[in-house]
Amino acid sequence: MIHELTNPVTKTLVTHLRDQRRDAIRFRHTVAELTKQLVYEALKDFPLVEKEIVPWQGNDIFSSINEESIVVVTVLRAGMPMLDSVMELLPNAVAGFLAMKRDETTHESKLYYDRLPNCKDKNILLVDPMVATGGSMMDALELIKTRKPKRIITLNIIGSPEGLERVSNAHSDVDIYIAQIDERLDENKYIIPGLGDAGDRAYNTPE
Ligand code: PRP
Ligand code: URA
Repeated sequence: MIHELTNPVTKTLVTHLRDQRRDAIRFRHTVAELTKQLVYEALKDFPLVEKEIVPWQGNDIFSSINEESIVVVTVLRAGMPMLDSVMELLPNAVAGFLAMKRDETTHESKLYYDRLPNCKDKNILLVDPMVATGGSMMDALELIKTRKPKRIITLNIIGSPEGLERVSNAHSDVDIYIAQIDERLDENKYIIPGLGDAGDRAYNTPE
């Protein structure tokens, strides 16, 4: 199911991201802030477990998300600020890495590095800011599913209706949390209005 955030603060931050004057450091910072909003929304019904801590006094058992049950999988490059942001909120979560690059002629994504940890029976948070054709998400989901996770949630910033529909139709068991669904794809399969190439915007590689 697709869940689009409606909070006005979310929309304001997406507008900041679209502004080409937003430099790389502020771009990554805004992506990170949006990611935190996505995490709060996506995990609002997540079960709490009892956790033993060392308190300053009294009771030593308190409620917590079982962070170790969460694997945060990022898609390089543009997913990196999102991974850092989730790991700030859930420091005991486990991180996984997939590197993919869209071929800018065929628009097909190609996996060139896979460093997934143990995903069996884990809750996966798959983070990638852009869902354009949906090809990268599809490939990532197919790969992750071979590792038998318990549940998969994706966190995305901007998506096209066609890309999201493609992913959602093929993976109806996956919950997609997204800050903004945009209008369409252009002839080069870029999201309109979108924000351009998220990896280039985040890391100063404008070619
Ligand atoms: C971007 C983005 C997604 C992909 C989305 O990555 O981060 O992974 O494009 O496009 P799709 O839905 O059509 O597959 P890109 O391949 O540009 O790599 P980068 O992050 O290294 O710039
Ligand atoms: N990748 C991006 O970073 N932006 C798009 O609009 C499409 C693919």
